[in-house]
Amino acid sequence: MKVIICGLGYVGVTAAACLIKDGHHVVGVDVNEVKVADVGAGRSPVSEPGVGQLLAQGVSEDRLETATSAADHLATSDIVLICVGTPSDASGNLELGYIMAVTQEIGETLAAMPIREEAPLIVFRSTMPPGTMENKIIPTLTELAGAPGERYEIAFNPEFLRESTAIEDYYAPAKIVIGEREPGISQELRGLYAGIDAPIFEMPFTAAEMVKLTDNSFHALKVAFGNEIGRLALDLSVDPQHVIDAFLADTRLNISPAYFRPGGPFGGSCLPKDLRAVNALASSRGIQIPVIASALPSNAAHKTFLAERVMSEAVPGTTILLLGLSFKSDTDDLRESPLIDLAETLLGKGYDLRIYDPDLKGRTLVGANLRFVEEHLPHLSRLLVEDVSDVVDPALVVIGKPMKAVTETLDPAVPVINLALL
Ligand SMILES: NC(=O)c1ccc[n+]([C@@H]2O[C@H](COP(=O)([O-])OP(=O)(O)OC[C@H]3O[C@@H](n4cnc5c(N)ncnc54)[C@H](O)[C@@H]3O)[C@@H](O)[C@H]2O)c1
Repeated sequence: MKVIICGLGYVGVTAAACLIKDGHHVVGVDVNEVKVADVGAGRSPVSEPGVGQLLAQGVSEDRLETATSAADHLATSDIVLICVGTPSDASGNLELGYIMAVTQEIGETLAAMPIREEAPLIVFRSTMPPGTMENKIIPTLTELAGAPGERYEIAFNPEFLRESTAIEDYYAPAKIVIGEREPGISQELRGLYAGIDAPIFEMPFTAAEMVKLTDNSFHALKVAFGNEIGRLALDLSVDPQHVIDAFLADTRLNISPAYFRPGGPFGGSCLPKDLRAVNALASSRGIQIPVIASALPSNAAHKTFLAERVMSEAVPGTTILLLGLSFKSDTDDLRESPLIDLAETLLGKGYDLRIYDPDLKGRTLVGANLRFVEEHLPHLSRLLVEDVSDVVDPALVVIGKPMKAVTETLDPAVPVINLALL
């Protein structure tokens, strides 16, 4: 295939090198003439292991051209990979000036080209804020060259490589993410990655844009979290590596999909209590742990979000059936259950709340569990129902924890909010 690469930075030259290795013909485009001259001479403009040799191979085999504009090559190319920079602007947003300049140029060139049977695929690889494809790039291209589908096709394919191991990462990515307008429409891109063994995730543009920022947010979060634990450990004369090694060894609950599902807030008798303890410990020793300290306020914000979502679906005074009250299935522990917070909020706002929880059926609450309920929901016994059919004409059902056998019996006409699915 003939592939144009716009932007000869770390991402662009790595793609150029790997595509040359894979036998493609590459046109490297950059507005920076020094970079264009370097690449044209088979030299890497950035320090990245292995890239220079492959660019040199491209030059010697006549499969690498360079230019300061894509315009002269678009009519004869199959794919354009846009890898220009998206640095931070003064307010922290990603600067889209370079992306939009390339988009404008490509749109104008497409408009002036005859329609081809095999329309070129324009692939955006730069990191962009969610919504950029839908709200900026597609409208710009559509205005200049018509909607995608006739003169061109379009895709978003975020790059996940790391500098210094870029070629290695290109050939062994953890995943390939393709944002597109219809599932499977950008087949040429799959062709480009044919030799790479990685799961492909196809999704709408905005979701794909969000995946990239989610990944980088999490990587940063991991570094910050590890360093906070490290600072606290050092202050306690504990070897941070001992703590982290034991932490990492738990691939069931720590480094795993466990707890990783957008849905309910955390609660129960341990997490809130022990987070407060870590915060108190750090603060008593003058250790800053802003990431860990932010977990409780973040959880509180999430409880507010869920309560507002529920209240937006039913007006005060109407009956809401809440399925579940304890903090998770198969336990009657109500201490710091987020569903207790939700129940308190709904009662406070004047809803007629009814609660069904099979885990509380026939249970006599005792000890700290009982004390917690007496403090937060003193009239619990009046709210609990023995069976969901005891609740006549609820305006809304809220699924607080999974209860498939029960939810299947509900009147389908009654609106349902499943908190586990946000
Ligand atoms: N560097 C990384 O490790 C990495 C990894 C994954 C994703 N990304 C993302 O990929 C994108 C590119 O990153 P990078 O590090 O390669 O950037 P970079 O700054 O190294 O290179 C960007 C290149 O684009 C060129 N450019 C600007 N306007 C242009 C135009 N109109 N036409 C052609 N070229 C133009 C610049 O001259 C520059 O050479 C960014 O959005 C970045 O966030 C980077």
